[in-house]
Amino acid sequence: MRIPVRFELNGHAVEVEVAPDRTLLDLLRDTMGETGTKEGCREGECGACTVVVDGRAVNSCLFPAPEIDGTRVLTIEGLSCDHGRLSRVQQAFLDASGTQCGFCTPGMVMTAVAFLAENPAPMDTEIREALTGNLCRCTGYVQIVEAIQLAARRSRDPQA
Ligand code: FES
Ligand code: FES
Repeated sequence: MRIPVRFELNGHAVEVEVAPDRTLLDLLRDTMGETGTKEGCREGECGACTVVVDGRAVNSCLFPAPEIDGTRVLTIEGLSCDHGRLSRVQQAFLDASGTQCGFCTPGMVMTAVAFLAENPAPMDTEIREALTGNLCRCTGYVQIVEAIQLAARRSRDPQA
């Protein structure tokens, strides 16, 4: 059995059929070919699969694909626009060395995007709290927190 779903993916209307036991992560990577969203634990522990659904950061590995019907989904592919220029958060990760091997980075960035939309002037403690569901084995998190602070400063002052 397959279930028809309609949703918006990175600003584009999408209509597909999904099996009831598939996740949003499967739908994005296997059906839509959007492999920027990473598959880590598949258990909701690592955050590598984080995408933004209706403004909220979610673990796509735990999100049933049929429930995506009627939503707006933003993935890492949806951030780079304007002829390939990086988004503010992506550029800040680059400038603050917030990425090393890069596996966790799409999930970190998407968590940051949803978080900064709600809290554009966060304290470091609030950033660390927002990142509790995202694991990084490389950076020690310091540069990631700095990157998110940098993105927040630049949203208030583009010269920062
Ligand atoms: S792959 Fe989804 S939380 Fe790890
Ligand atoms: S940069 Fe390697 S896991 Fe985070």
